[in-house]
Amino acid sequence: MLALVASNPAERESVSEGNGLRITVSQNGPYIVSGGVPLAQQIIDADEEGNSRDWREGQKYDAAPEYKLCRCGNSQNKPFCDDSHLRVGFDGSESDSARVPYAEQAVEYDGPERALTDARQLCVGARFCDPNGTVWRLVERTDDESVRELFDGMVGNCPSGRLISWNRRTATTIEPSRDPSIGVIEDPQLGVSGPLWVTGGIRIQSGTDGYVYESRARMTLCRCGQSANKPFCDGTHAAIGFRDDFWRAA
Ligand code: FES
Repeated sequence: MLALVASNPAERESVSEGNGLRITVSQNGPYIVSGGVPLAQQIIDADEEGNSRDWREGQKYDAAPEYKLCRCGNSQNKPFCDDSHLRVGFDGSESDSARVPYAEQAVEYDGPERALTDARQLCVGARFCDPNGTVWRLVERTDDESVRELFDGMVGNCPSGRLISWNRRTATTIEPSRDPSIGVIEDPQLGVSGPLWVTGGIRIQSGTDGYVYESRARMTLCRCGQSANKPFCDGTHAAIGFRDDFWRAA
């Protein structure tokens, strides 16, 4: 286990205590969302050079006390489920690899004031890590305050939590404050729709065997149906050109 991750159990626990909100990964079916979790499109905004720069909120959806989100990629009413998983015989088997703790997946990169932990398996290809020479280079220059700010912002925009910034003096994470919500990711630069972005420590639980996934501040759930790391996104949506109704309106 990485020393930094192991040193920070209190913070990890505060996220995982839960807040009454829940996402259940139903067996070969949709995500069942309980607790009236806010739901809105989250669009990746790019600069004129095509680099991912920030998030922009798009359409908001009515958040009923309980609702079902498509997990197979075939619904005609995305992001909601319309029972298409039954028609297509969706195999939504959850992957063993998705249950490996972050600390066991991640590699650590140390800089003077910040460290970067990186669990590549969780990459969804949102590309906030690429500008300014990449976060892997920037971490080496985090003794400069302006670089530190830039670095923290870029890392904090990584939706899946693949990347985490750490204050090396306090061994605590630098985490943007985000309320519990689900974002329906759209990526105009790549011309695809992306995963569901879960923020705020919402509990994610298997409907098959009751397993409760490790709670992290930023997580991304596959909604194209094709990830090899279900229930989490592994970036396959880009390779298959996954699109929802956002593109019908575009
Ligand atoms: S939504 Fe990213 S792999 Fe399915």
